[in-house]
Amino acid sequence: MHDRYESIRQALDAIGQTHILRHWGSLQSSQRTDLLSQIEELDLAMVTRLASQADDGAKVDFATIEPAPFRAIGDATLPSFRAAGEELLRGGRVAAFTVAGGQGTRLGWRGPKGSYPATVVTGKPLFRVFAEQIAAAEKRFGRVIPWYIMTSPINDHDTRSFFQDNNWFGRSPRDTLLFPQGTMPSITFDGKLMLETPSMLAVNPDGHGGSLRALAASGAVEDMKGRGIEQISYFQVDNPLVKIIDPAFIGLHATAADSSGEMSSKMVRKRDAAEKVGVFCHHAGKTIVLEYSDLPKSLSEATDTSGMLRFAAGSVAIHAISVAFVDRLTQGDFALPFHRAKKKVPYYCDTARCTIEPDAPNAIKFEAFIFDALVLASKSLLLETSRVEEFAPIKNSTGEDSPSSSHQTQSNRNGAWLERFGTQIPRRANGDVDARIEISAATALFEDDLAGLAAAGQLPKRIAADTDAVV
Ligand code: UD1
Repeated sequence: MHDRYESIRQALDAIGQTHILRHWGSLQSSQRTDLLSQIEELDLAMVTRLASQADDGAKVDFATIEPAPFRAIGDATLPSFRAAGEELLRGGRVAAFTVAGGQGTRLGWRGPKGSYPATVVTGKPLFRVFAEQIAAAEKRFGRVIPWYIMTSPINDHDTRSFFQDNNWFGRSPRDTLLFPQGTMPSITFDGKLMLETPSMLAVNPDGHGGSLRALAASGAVEDMKGRGIEQISYFQVDNPLVKIIDPAFIGLHATAADSSGEMSSKMVRKRDAAEKVGVFCHHAGKTIVLEYSDLPKSLSEATDTSGMLRFAAGSVAIHAISVAFVDRLTQGDFALPFHRAKKKVPYYCDTARCTIEPDAPNAIKFEAFIFDALVLASKSLLLETSRVEEFAPIKNSTGEDSPSSSHQTQSNRNGAWLERFGTQIPRRANGDVDARIEISAATALFEDDLAGLAAAGQLPKRIAADTDAVV
């Protein structure tokens, strides 16, 4: 132990970070081992670089940036690509992948975000919503669709318990693979590593961009290759309306001439200039995403001659990614660039002798973003989708992107589906559906699936205002 300690102390000394060993004398043997292991896992050269640099994120020349080209809703070529996607699904070539390692602090939910009761009438948790969709798609295409879920060291245990307590939502645990993402150390504004307790560094999950490395490191990529999986349907844990298995998008991504089949994305038109979504742009010959906080106001508010937002392609964080692409990127020393954000990070206070939860940002967290992999694809395709069909995220406890806004969008989508098959739906003056309507994926995975029920007279004739309906 002494030699190990001594070599770590010297390495830290060389970069001015020995303060994280200051409690060494009072630590028990197991705490000493834990601390040394944590420090050994750090890439000290990278810590030094990040601590000294202003930003490690992608550099963008805003003078040359253009809106990204995209395939619009209703693109006439989509039906032929749907057939190609269905073929891949019938061949067992597609996996589902949820990134669920976030801390979910804005929502104020104590468990993993996937355990949040999300649906508008029965309050099904997000993970159940996804499991039911995947099960319906497995039935439709006659193949197992393996589901990979990235957790973080902070919520891995609770996420696994949630799946176990729910009997894996009827799935085989062999086809439902959970693995934790990596972490990054937080640093103070003057570049110092931080302790959360005398024997534990302050670290945070390394962002959803860490998912590429985690897919490789966890063995998920090898598992996919062993199963013959070629394409991954990537989505965030916060969106109960995500169409996890979308044959048209998968087929377009995998087979269109203007796609490399490596990484494609879906977008919706931004609600307004201030909406907190990343924006797809075209830069140096590539499609990129600029996070809302990085897009200058002059660009986010710019309009075209018809008064529409110029940079309107909002990211819904839904991607199709090939296994070969992940495999290629994760050979060797790969990492996406880290973005830095000022955050409130709990730290150990020597004078108070306890961990303090600060009231204001006191540290810098480093996170990698999955969309920074887009520039690494040789070509990348962007498909527009409808907000009401596919985007009802639950991020905040109230207001925009909250449970109540998500519930309204869910009812709007479900009401529109039923209306098309003749059900009378109550609507408010602003067009919103004036009832709480839920449609389970087992009943209809896609809108057209309601046709059979309509023909058999099994859909409601009308839904009364301000009532609950489950179809
Ligand atoms: C995100 C996107 C934004 C997009 C919007 C769509 C970023 C930086 N921004 O915003 O471009 O328009 O969603 O809803 O991602 N996660 C991990 N590990 C982490 C961090 C996050 O798995 O270390 C997961 C979360 O569990 C969640 C997702 O990534 O599923 C999104 O994370 P969040 O930080 O909430 O991003 P948003 O700000 O909502």
